[in-house]
Amino acid sequence: MDAQALQTEAQSAISRAQTLSELEAVRVRYLGRKSELKLALREVRDRETGMTLNAIRTAVEEALEARERELEAAAVQLDTDFDPTLPGERIERGSLHLITQLRRRIEDIFVGMGYEVYDGREIETVWHNYDALNQPEAHPSRDPQDTFYVDGDTLLRTHTSPSQIRAMMQQEPPIYLVSLGRTYRRDALDATHTPVFHQVEALAVDRNITLGDLRGTMETFANAVFGGEREVRMRTSYFPFTEPSVEFDVTCYLCDGSGCAVCKHSGWIEMGGAGEVDPNVFVAVGYDPEEWTGFAFGLGIDRIALLRHGLPDLRLFWENDIRFLEQF
Ligand code: PHE
Repeated sequence: MDAQALQTEAQSAISRAQTLSELEAVRVRYLGRKSELKLALREVRDRETGMTLNAIRTAVEEALEARERELEAAAVQLDTDFDPTLPGERIERGSLHLITQLRRRIEDIFVGMGYEVYDGREIETVWHNYDALNQPEAHPSRDPQDTFYVDGDTLLRTHTSPSQIRAMMQQEPPIYLVSLGRTYRRDALDATHTPVFHQVEALAVDRNITLGDLRGTMETFANAVFGGEREVRMRTSYFPFTEPSVEFDVTCYLCDGSGCAVCKHSGWIEMGGAGEVDPNVFVAVGYDPEEWTGFAFGLGIDRIALLRHGLPDLRLFWENDIRFLEQF
């Protein structure tokens, strides 16, 4: 028997087999009990012939296994009608939600000014949300009508200001931080109210911080988020945790202050609340109010997004209508 010729012949038969049953026939022919190879192995008397024949048997077995895997894979492909020559189906790519995009942009703006991004909590204690912020027992926002309580001491935060308290209790001044996230109020859902909304809180604590610093920071922020050269206006206001307190407006990004539909012909857009940190807040977190000064402001991210894109209704942010979301 020409062992080498037998191996070559078997291997070419294996590669010609087109189906698993053809392959099985090839296996029987070359490795079956009555095959030339098996009969020859039974007759072997010397070591050298034994080694040669065994090597051929191993080679043929391996070739059979390899071809079997190929044919099986091909069978699976036939089953699924897989045609590798067809062009692929395009997978639609999503985008970040408009609020998330704006939130990240605001973070970038503040990081660019040297601020830290501080993660607050959405579930807060009554103390962090109100008392430490000098917000008296009788303040209307503490009413269960206006606030979601988890239990008597715990609530869904009504603003991002408790982040100020947490950060100040963890760190020593100077502090420059922004804290962004969801906030909750028991508001009925309509075009301008959603019970879940987003705020950005900014806090600066250092020596000799004035309302001028607050104003300059707001202006830099407004220019970055709206573009162009915005002007900032402050109106006196009241918040328990700032003294003095202001509401701040910026000149309308669309008409530059001359008056249009976006700013309701006033030339100004209301941005949010702000002020110098009240000394009582410093006392609550253990800072010396004689040594430290600071400013804080808070504004609504959803509102900025609404204005920035001229959108008619806050509910659009929550409806998950792809036709709306994919525009951003
Ligand atoms: N927390 C206030 C609000 O939600 C906004 C604010 C923040 C005011 C910081 C002053 C300073 O209305």
